[in-house]
Amino acid sequence: GEPVRVLVTGAAGQIAYSLLYSIAKGDVFGKDQPLVLVLLDITPMMTVLEGVVMELQDCALPLLREVIPTDKEEVAFKDLDVAILVGSMPRREGMERKDLLKANVKIFKSQGAALDKYAKKTVKVVVVGNPANTNCLIASKSAPSIPKENFSCLTRLDHNRAKSQIALKLGVTANDVKNVIIWGNHSSTQYPDVNHAKVNVKGKEVGVYEAIKDDSWLKGDFILTVQQRGAAVIKARKLSSAMSAAKAICDHVRDIWFGTPAGEFVSMGVISDGNSYGVPEDLLYSFPVVIKDKTWKFVEGLPINDFSREKMDLTAKELTEEKETAVEFLSSA
Ligand SMILES: NC(=O)c1ccc[n+]([C@@H]2O[C@H](COP(=O)([O-])OP(=O)(O)OC[C@H]3O[C@@H](n4cnc5c(N)ncnc54)[C@H](O)[C@@H]3O)[C@@H](O)[C@H]2O)c1
Repeated sequence: GEPVRVLVTGAAGQIAYSLLYSIAKGDVFGKDQPLVLVLLDITPMMTVLEGVVMELQDCALPLLREVIPTDKEEVAFKDLDVAILVGSMPRREGMERKDLLKANVKIFKSQGAALDKYAKKTVKVVVVGNPANTNCLIASKSAPSIPKENFSCLTRLDHNRAKSQIALKLGVTANDVKNVIIWGNHSSTQYPDVNHAKVNVKGKEVGVYEAIKDDSWLKGDFILTVQQRGAAVIKARKLSSAMSAAKAICDHVRDIWFGTPAGEFVSMGVISDGNSYGVPEDLLYSFPVVIKDKTWKFVEGLPINDFSREKMDLTAKELTEEKETAVEFLSSA
């Protein structure tokens, strides 16, 4: 068959180092799907990127038809089927939140425009680089000829963290837990919600609250652990999550490509237009979605209690403020 053309940006970085191998060996697009991998990074990283290309070649993988390293957007974004935008401006010491946002608006405005100009109109765009939600919104706004629904940002790592914390608590495997939800921003205001999650305990499917029988843990430490997991990994490893982030990206893109399993939903940051959960329109907010034929839909009709409502509103408020600042920068970027 025709190869799928996949761009990874930040390709010389640490997430990409795990991610590229998984994609190239068929974890995402299937074991029979040939691939062209396009690798974008900034000019000073080109020698490092050459090393990554050498290693990909040395993996001797049957699906990998071509690897194209570049520091040029017009090369990177050409004819893409999938764009995984991992590279972004990292926070440096002494940098204000606003400065960081400004630098990233510039990057994602430019990459959005390049998507608009060079990529296929069917391209699926996944934003990982932080602040992921707002970067994704900016990229989408800068690519008016590509449907907004083709853009999503990664909250699957948070989703997987929530799933795994529940599994660990119950002594089951992560696969026995389904339908956790991450609402909102991929930041510490995110709301990991297990009110609708199910766990398989000895062959029987039960609600997570019923299975765990510890509401104060579920409403307290569980939420905090998931919200602060990224910081805990940095503290321990002196580097941010990379292996788990790469795995989450694979889960996210594979579900876009092949759909979600029957009876299961996943979390991803998508445009909030038309949602039934009272989240303001035109926000890039993480929701529970199901995916079929490469198209996501909101999971509708989940009852929301007061505890959840408050937390969903809080993260929406943070995202609204972040968006307003970013949009201000957009015209001057
Ligand atoms: N959404 C999530 O769940 C999640 C999880 C983990 C990390 N992240 C974010 O992912 C990003 C990458 O993480 P990492 O650990 O791989 O970082 P890293 O610093 O190891 O790598 C980032 C790479 O991006 C490159 N880059 C910077 N600006 C670029 C641009 N304009 N175009 C192309 N490449 C560019 C850098 O040169 C670097 O090689 C960070 O922003 C991190 O915060 C998000």
